[in-house]
Amino acid sequence: MDFFFSEEQLMIQQAARTFAINECLPAVIERDEKQAFPTAQIKKLAELGFMGMMVDPKYGGAGMDTISYMLAMEEISKVDASVSVIMSVNNSLVCYGLEEFGDEWQKENYLTQLAKGIKDDKLYIGAFLLSEPEAGSDASSQKTIAEDMGEYYLLNGVKNWITSGNSASVYILMAQTDPSQGSKGINAFIVERDWPGIDLGPKENKMGIRGSDTHSVHFSNVRVPKENRIGKDGFGFKFAMKVLTAGRIGIAAQALGIAGGAYELSLKYSMQRKTFGKEISRHQVIQFKLADMVTRIEYARLLCLKAAWEKDRNLEFSLSSSMAKVVASETAMWTTTEAVQIHGGYGFVKEYHVERLMRDAKVTQIYEGTSEVQRMVIARAILN
Ligand code: CAA
Repeated sequence: MDFFFSEEQLMIQQAARTFAINECLPAVIERDEKQAFPTAQIKKLAELGFMGMMVDPKYGGAGMDTISYMLAMEEISKVDASVSVIMSVNNSLVCYGLEEFGDEWQKENYLTQLAKGIKDDKLYIGAFLLSEPEAGSDASSQKTIAEDMGEYYLLNGVKNWITSGNSASVYILMAQTDPSQGSKGINAFIVERDWPGIDLGPKENKMGIRGSDTHSVHFSNVRVPKENRIGKDGFGFKFAMKVLTAGRIGIAAQALGIAGGAYELSLKYSMQRKTFGKEISRHQVIQFKLADMVTRIEYARLLCLKAAWEKDRNLEFSLSSSMAKVVASETAMWTTTEAVQIHGGYGFVKEYHVERLMRDAKVTQIYEGTSEVQRMVIARAILN
């Protein structure tokens, strides 16, 4: 075991940092205010190979490891968590799910383009449709029905809070095919966004990650070909759980980046701003806040790295991914709140970025499994 990154990992970290500063920073406040989708930024990410970072090059991916992905997510999230959530869903929910559990036809037909993030010069990304109006944390209470019609499934229902709901071309969707079987009657499907019978609800007006587009998606008699079911009959709930286990590393890295961004801004500000005749960084009360920030971030980073390291070695990583997510997201919320406090009145206005980071931090405690769900997973693992 060592604590050094490889040269390739460091190069990716640097490329992500450069991308975040050059491409995301200039208009991040405007995009947040207008809820503008970062099309140009996602296209650039696709050119960098960051939309299918961990996918095997034979399926159009960049063939990198999870640690590289984590480092890239962290750097981009320091500046723009709206860009990083779109990247995260495509990489660790959509591409990972298809590469790990899809068949050869599904990989050739969908994964190869999704991993590139571009098709015919247009964005080609995916979304993950599990949540419903009454199935958030209680994910197995699926009400969306996919009725087996012999040649195809007939899909009816509503999905909620879908990241990239409008901009995605491909949906990975969970639906109930046999309600009498509970979670064992759920299946996962690949659904194309432009199939007849699919309608979107209005764009959600969110507190944070406002650049990403979140919608409810309505399905009315949508025909899904049989070959678009992922895995064997009844595998859908396990598929969703396994994919989310991996996805949680990405969101943990996002939270880590949000915390890191707030810490870096606070450090810089505290060395410039003067009160009572000296820089505020020379007041012990500020020093202790900065010391706690950097310590908590390091603690969260070690958990994220452990989860990524285990995943890269095909070891069991569900416990460490839940630990990483709960610690990193709570660190992000705490650090960003303290960052606003350190900035005082300047922290409460948009130009200084920390208020946005604080708003963006909140969702990391909610999506891809709330902090409460992570604690359930951890408690079940230790009690078993
Ligand atoms: N890996 C493999 N299998 C798993 C698993 C895992 N991590 N977790 C559970 N399972 C299996 C169980 O072994 C069980 O299988 P058997 O019946 O064969 O034993 C089956 O799945 C059912 O498991 P549980 O009884 O534990 O299921 P549960 O109903 O009690 O729910 C839960 C468990 C952990 C709370 C789960 O519902 C959950 O994770 N909820 C949160 C959902 C979530 O994260 N949603 C995020 C939406 S996507 C998103 O946010 C994307 C975005 O926009 C950014």
